Amino acid sequence: MTEPDIKKGLAGVVVDTTAISKVNPETNSLLYRGYPVQELAATQPFEAVAYLLWHGELPDAAQLAALRATEREHRALSENVRAAIDLVPLEAHPMDEVRTAVSLIGASDPHAGGSVLDAGGSPEQNLERAIRLFAALPAIVAYGQRRRRGEQPIEPRDDLDYSANFLWMTFGEDPDPVVVDAFNRSMILYAEHSFNASTFTARVITSTLSDLYSAVVGAIGALKGPLHGGANEAVLHIFDEIGEASNVVPWLDEALAEKRKIMGFGHRVYKSGDSRVPTMKAALDTLVAHYDKPEVAELYDALESEFVARKGIYPNLDYPSGPAYNLIGFDTLTFTPLFVAARVTGWTAHVIEQAGANALIRPLSFYDGPDERHVES
Ligand code: SDX
Repeated sequence: MTEPDIKKGLAGVVVDTTAISKVNPETNSLLYRGYPVQELAATQPFEAVAYLLWHGELPDAAQLAALRATEREHRALSENVRAAIDLVPLEAHPMDEVRTAVSLIGASDPHAGGSVLDAGGSPEQNLERAIRLFAALPAIVAYGQRRRRGEQPIEPRDDLDYSANFLWMTFGEDPDPVVVDAFNRSMILYAEHSFNASTFTARVITSTLSDLYSAVVGAIGALKGPLHGGANEAVLHIFDEIGEASNVVPWLDEALAEKRKIMGFGHRVYKSGDSRVPTMKAALDTLVAHYDKPEVAELYDALESEFVARKGIYPNLDYPSGPAYNLIGFDTLTFTPLFVAARVTGWTAHVIEQAGANALIRPLSFYDGPDERHVES
């Protein structure tokens, strides 16, 4: 039997439709429910974009106020989630804390425990669950960083909206509006990106009629990898290795000689640059000026221009977001958990969409193992 045309990594394979976002490499653009992501990042609070991804329309004032009220009800770190996080060894990667916390929230869900036949939940239950995770993740991520620094968790503040409260719970200082705006933009840019590996993982899990929490736990596992969400953390490890702009050429000579992947560059879909990078780079430039750290921009520019000149491979969103989160004060290990806090909106929008499709995802494989044989009697 001749080998069929196998699409390894499903590269270039269209497997389903989605109404949530459109990634267009030809025009290097990204639309969330029809809106260019650049416009959303420049004009909307992250809560409004979450609403858009879940409902398909931007919220009016009353709908945004209602979502903000519900988010405030569920943002505090609960005792059992804190206890679960405290069971995770400090040496473990923070993505393991996030995965564990989400798993416990799922097991504690009021609708949990029923028969598997109703695990999937109704669209209304799944929306409730999505908002619960959206609201809970900032405290989980913030506490993860603080516990590794030997600090106690900080209670949320009802006078602060989502992004400002996230920074408050992490650093315990009144957040600067310049920093809040840059952080808010990063969350919107990270929120959704069609059938990327972690989102597709969530859809596969949902396609068996499993529950939303299981889909998010699976997606967290996929996002952790450095070829995907872990790249933003890996970018800072590279910056730390290089040190300063004058070291870029010799560092790159050695890295490319070792055939290393330079994290923060390249993309499976975009081939002439990631549509989100200009917006995130502008936010990084704002932070460089705000914190007066020109050396960060020098290193960023030196590595980008040298690598693009040599390989013709362009930065992806993780390249500007890593140094931006570093300037704000997040630990490098916190970067990918930040990606989870943003992408949980896109993942759960896809879970709701997939659950409605009610179609099991199960591709084929081509067997190239031993021919049929039998146990010797
Ligand atoms: C994200 O899918 C999404 O939408 C993901 C994401 C989202 O919002 O969900 O955008 C988020 O995951 C962004 C990507 C973050 N990952 C990284 O920055 C890791 C480094 N990047 C590479 O591993 C790579 O670019 C991928 C995995 C992102 C994409 O790889 P592809 O499309 O499978 O391409 P490839 O690995 O087959 O590379 C083609 C060639 C290869 O050279 P050859 O073996 O053919 O000689 O380009 C080279 C690769 O070696 N190459 C790189 C490179 N990226 C591609 N070489 C060095 N450094 C790189 N970063």
